[in-house]
Amino acid sequence: MQEVKRSKIKDLLHFEPGREVLAKGWVRTKRGNKEVAFIALSDGSTIKNIQIVCDKSASGMEEILSKISTGACIGVRGELVESPGSGQAVEIKASEIEIYGTCDPVRYPLQKKDTSFEYLRTVAHMRPRTNTFGAVLRLRSQMAYAIHEYFHNKGFVYLNTPLITASDCEGAGQMFQVTTLDLGNVPRNKKGEPDYSKDFFGKQTSLTVSGQLEGELGATALGEIYTFGPTFRAENSNTPRHLAEFWMIEPEMAFYDITDNMDLAEDFIKHLVRYALENCRDDIQFLNDRYDPELISRLEGVVGTDFVRLEYTEGIRILEEAAKNGVQFEYPVYWGVDLQSEHERYLVEQHFRKPVILTGYPKEIKAFYMKQDPDGKTVRAMDILFPKIGEIIGGSERESDLGKLEARITELGMSRKNLEWYIDTRRFGSCPHSGFGLGFERLLLFITGMQNIRDVIPFPRTPKNAEY
Ligand code: 4AD
Ligand code: MG
Repeated sequence: MQEVKRSKIKDLLHFEPGREVLAKGWVRTKRGNKEVAFIALSDGSTIKNIQIVCDKSASGMEEILSKISTGACIGVRGELVESPGSGQAVEIKASEIEIYGTCDPVRYPLQKKDTSFEYLRTVAHMRPRTNTFGAVLRLRSQMAYAIHEYFHNKGFVYLNTPLITASDCEGAGQMFQVTTLDLGNVPRNKKGEPDYSKDFFGKQTSLTVSGQLEGELGATALGEIYTFGPTFRAENSNTPRHLAEFWMIEPEMAFYDITDNMDLAEDFIKHLVRYALENCRDDIQFLNDRYDPELISRLEGVVGTDFVRLEYTEGIRILEEAAKNGVQFEYPVYWGVDLQSEHERYLVEQHFRKPVILTGYPKEIKAFYMKQDPDGKTVRAMDILFPKIGEIIGGSERESDLGKLEARITELGMSRKNLEWYIDTRRFGSCPHSGFGLGFERLLLFITGMQNIRDVIPFPRTPKNAEY
């Protein structure tokens, strides 16, 4: 097979017929009759397969075909010809087939009989071979590219923040501890507590829940930065929207107030959705046709609409009104409550029917670093709420006043020990600044229309599950 160069199926499908080609990939299906066999071949480069037509009277063909079944990996050389069948413009008339790896049809985990997402999660090492996960994983990669491109074009600096940290950015105490201490024989101090001075870093450390605090160090020097990396949360929420390991994009900008922050976030997310519609059409069309006939119109709807900008207090009033008029919420609604996803989705899907940016949250339910409003009750937080998802972005203008920030840290009883470096940004040339975090998998839930966050990351990490 030396003389012809291998082409990807994505490209082959657009070649002029008449050429000698070489395709390599995995067999999706094999069918046929006494004279010919048809193989649908996929190489992951596109949602589409190429059809291979095999003339069984050719020498050795019957024997080689007998070894080929769904899942087998093969190379096929032959002429690219116009396809008489419907469904594809071209197909390959095979002249030579090489088998790289056969596939036991009985033990192969991807069988037609069970293709439920629940089942596929139990064989997540194989599910990238399915059409659906191929589409989702290609979209994931395209979105990552679009994110870097967006910020690069705006002159933001890509900043890598640490994964191992001694500070709890969100202050929610949901961190995975990182230690090399012998858990069977933990050294203890005089009070009987673990003696972290003996630990690898000489102090207690964890996996980060957010790169924001270090992001602020970058923004207050470089102007505009973004991070894009994994974050970890040990929250025991077994929901379709929570992962213990997820990816987050966190831009942080000097001299942005909350309005600039909202403008950027809205433009950013619309750009990403538009990018997907323009550059990933085949995969989105597949997901639309197979699972979610409203997917494309939902995506187009977001691109073409102004997001609602609403104060938390007004949001609560709308929800209380709805409850009074008979809408059933599982969790109670009152001023001061942290909104549940049912409340967020009511505002977005029932009341406004478009994305909502909620601002002015009570300070008690938000993190210590948010800029305090003059009323002393609310902070300049902003959450972006999306149809089907609920919260997709969380952000705020940051408290830039040293005294107010210190007072809030004290008020919350937080330890300053591991935060002095952060407070330094307010000591030395403090500046107004803002930022937000977009949950990458929440974005992908929206873009793919998938229902469960475990199905938009290749190898999900959730409570009691760290397989592969
Ligand atoms: O609202 P969060 O907790 O905000 C922060 O971490 C800030 N430090 C961000 C910033 O201002 N730089 O998280 C941000 C986003 C959420 O809106 C959500 O999309 C996602 O991260 N997220 C999760 N995604 C999947 N699984 C989880 N357990 C998530 N927790 C948050
Ligand atoms: Mg949040």
